[in-house]
Amino acid sequence: MRIAIVGGGPAGLYFAILAKKAWPATEITVFERNRPDDTFGFGVVFSDETLDTFEKYDRASYQAIVDNFAYWDDIEIHFKGAVHRIGGNGFCGCARTTLLRLLFERALGLGVEFEFQTEVDPDLKALKGYDLIVAADGINSRIREAHRDHFSTEIDYRPNKFTWMGSTRSFDAFTFFFKETDHGIIIAHCYQYEPGHSTWIFEVQEDTFKKAGFDTLDEQQSAAFLEKLFAEELRGHPLFVNRSMWRNFPRVSNDRWVMGNVVLLGDAKATAHFSIGSGTKLAMEDAIALYNALSRERLDVKASLERYETERRLDVEKTQHAADVSLVWFEHVDRFWPMDPKQFSFGLMTRSKAITWDNLTLRAPEFVNEVGKTFARQVKASGFDVDDGVPVPPMFQPFSLRDMILPNRVVVSPMCMYSAKDGVPNDWHLMHLGSRAVGGAGLLFTEMTDVSEDARISPGCTGIYNDEQEAAWKRIVDFVRQHSRAKICMQLGHAGRKGATKLMWEGSDRPLESGAWPIVSASPLPYYPDSQVPREITRREMDRVVGDFVAATKRAERAGFDMIELHCAHGYLLASFISPLTNQRRDEYGGSLDNRLKFPLEVFRAMRDAWPSNKPMSVRISATDWKDGGISGEDSVEIARAFAREGCDLIDVSTGQTVHDAEPIFGRMFQTPFSDQIRNEAKLATMCVGNITSADQVNTILAAGRADLVALARPHLVDPFFTMRAAAWYGVQDMHCPPQYLPGRDQIFRNFPRDREDLTELRRKARPSSHQRNRKEAAE
Ligand SMILES: Cc1cc2nc3c(=O)[nH]c(=O)nc-3n(C[C@H](O)[C@H](O)[C@H](O)COP(=O)(O)OP(=O)(O)OC[C@H]3O[C@@H](n4cnc5c(N)ncnc54)[C@H](O)[C@@H]3O)c2cc1C
Ligand SMILES: Cc1cc2nc3c(=O)[nH]c(=O)nc-3n(C[C@H](O)[C@H](O)[C@H](O)COP(=O)(O)O)c2cc1C
Repeated sequence: MRIAIVGGGPAGLYFAILAKKAWPATEITVFERNRPDDTFGFGVVFSDETLDTFEKYDRASYQAIVDNFAYWDDIEIHFKGAVHRIGGNGFCGCARTTLLRLLFERALGLGVEFEFQTEVDPDLKALKGYDLIVAADGINSRIREAHRDHFSTEIDYRPNKFTWMGSTRSFDAFTFFFKETDHGIIIAHCYQYEPGHSTWIFEVQEDTFKKAGFDTLDEQQSAAFLEKLFAEELRGHPLFVNRSMWRNFPRVSNDRWVMGNVVLLGDAKATAHFSIGSGTKLAMEDAIALYNALSRERLDVKASLERYETERRLDVEKTQHAADVSLVWFEHVDRFWPMDPKQFSFGLMTRSKAITWDNLTLRAPEFVNEVGKTFARQVKASGFDVDDGVPVPPMFQPFSLRDMILPNRVVVSPMCMYSAKDGVPNDWHLMHLGSRAVGGAGLLFTEMTDVSEDARISPGCTGIYNDEQEAAWKRIVDFVRQHSRAKICMQLGHAGRKGATKLMWEGSDRPLESGAWPIVSASPLPYYPDSQVPREITRREMDRVVGDFVAATKRAERAGFDMIELHCAHGYLLASFISPLTNQRRDEYGGSLDNRLKFPLEVFRAMRDAWPSNKPMSVRISATDWKDGGISGEDSVEIARAFAREGCDLIDVSTGQTVHDAEPIFGRMFQTPFSDQIRNEAKLATMCVGNITSADQVNTILAAGRADLVALARPHLVDPFFTMRAAAWYGVQDMHCPPQYLPGRDQIFRNFPRDREDLTELRRKARPSSHQRNRKEAAE
């Protein structure tokens, strides 16, 4: 077998090593246009986890790597004069030249052939006789570009500018400098890669780039300029350059990775933003995946390449997703600028979701303690008599909206039960809401409760448009009040074009086959092609709807609710006005966002007038439609501001469900970034929701300032006692429990803290990392 590898970067070299080691009889040639020692860049970083993988696949190159790497455990964050150091990160770095030399030597030793200073033409005619062609030709891959249509390449040039430079300043931690200058914010990502040498990646927003005049400076001039600005941080050391042009990071992805016997590897195939330091990792792990595929398919090229593409794609997309979340944090750093340095640092550490409150508590307990105290101080400053000397995890800190005080920040998200008859809540609803109240959540939302019979989603939905329903709701509110400390909010809505549909378990959003009632929406557009076509709502009908919402508001007050929410999300009637995908009106309620908001705001205003001024109101919005041409994160900030101006106290940030063919990007806490954006740009209180499943995530979100309240829907379906359990886990004693359940409470409160300690001890024993030990042993 003959294999040609185009590109002698980490991807190409590592694949050459693995393949030659496994199949010595194979002819493997690396074609590299540069000379062996001629490369760009300064240092590369690997995490402990990545080193584990390398150790498994090629012990010799792994050992060479750890012998030559600078190892560090801490991340240091410099922000507004404060310095935070967080341990337990387990990273190492080395010069890119060293890494490439080590890999080259190992490959050469195994018998890989090299043709340096050989540029391969992307028509690949020169490689005709090869069975497999590996295109590891980097971020600007000429092979990929020549066949862009086939690979279906997408390159998203990110808005921030960045440049890589080097310095002789030493570091003993991965260090971030966040610096406010006359030109704007400049971020430096720094790490040492060998004694006396460090990488400095500078990153700026476009307007800072222009204000500082970087667009008029060459590499040397940029370095001289930055040397002056960062004189203190550089401690007298110079900056040096090596192809250190300012660039926009290209986020590369390809729908296809294979073309006949040609396969894309490394940066040519997909890039990961430098802020998670995973570019080289991704490239070398690609090499592993390709090698694994060839072994499993016994060198059958076609089958191997298919396997490589299917098996590797998910991991690559996950890394790219983590990198995307991280790069967005840096692009919006000004959003977090007003934050306390501890909260800012916590937000930075937890930006890409892998690092959390619990995980940091194990490796940097003092830091998390300080973050907890800062949070407590903020709660105290907002008027609560809390002890800011003993940090209680953020989820157990109280929160207030107008006169309503919540004992903690966990919320049972609204969930339709589809179990009412004629709109009347019954024992099921009493049990459902009652048990979750007893389970410890601070705030409960009722399901979307409809303001008229024809406003219902399904025949099983609850309403509050007659006395019987009002009385049934009162029974539930009274129970919650009597047996728990939870507050209860009624979510009021009108189904619009999603009305007259089946019960969830018979077909969510599917039209009723019999017994359907006429429906209305902003425009006459059916939800599914075969759904009932709604009538475009007339102004007279809109008047009736306003009246229905007001009447329902008054009933909710009489039933004793602490708060009400107006449902303006998920494609229901009011949402159908807000989204341009569902609003095609030509009157004053269609067109611009201001126009589309008119009717929802009118409803809100009328409700606010009817609702006691000491009680809070929230609005649920879909912060994105997950569809081109629909609502985006930027729009949602404006929408939130508009409701806040009318007296809305909390924005409940959901997403999507506007149109049936949306393409949401699901993942852990996937809607939280929208809450973050609204909270920190519009400076409004927000509640986030969506695939948040653990108390750890709740604390992480709150401590980082991404939301004020955290709602969980599905997790509460299987665990009404989510909050109680979390209190036991964190050892938070001040947790109300009805006397009937005290023995259960006492038992879990006794055991959970011990489980936590055991876990901490186990983790403590696991450190220092095996790579650090390997390196030490080798040195000894
Ligand atoms: C300055 C800099 C610093 C970086 N620092 C880090 C870091 O700290 N951590 C990290 O994880 N990642 C880092 N990266 C990213 C990392 O270098 C890349 O993600 C990684 O090198 C990708 O490996 P690769 O083998 O796919 O591509 P590359 O390393 O780019 O290698 C591609 C090779 O192909 C050669 N080539 C291209 N076209 C042809 C052709 N037609 N014929 C022959 N040869 C060709 C090129 O000369 C090059 O040597 C850095 C990148 C840069 C630019
Ligand atoms: C069974 C069920 C019913 C729901 N009903 C409502 C509802 O009545 N009103 C609403 O705004 N959202 C409703 N939702 C959406 C949830 O409130 C929540 O936003 C969504 O499930 C994401 O949160 P999760 O990942 O914690 O489940 C419902 C979700 C589920 C699972």
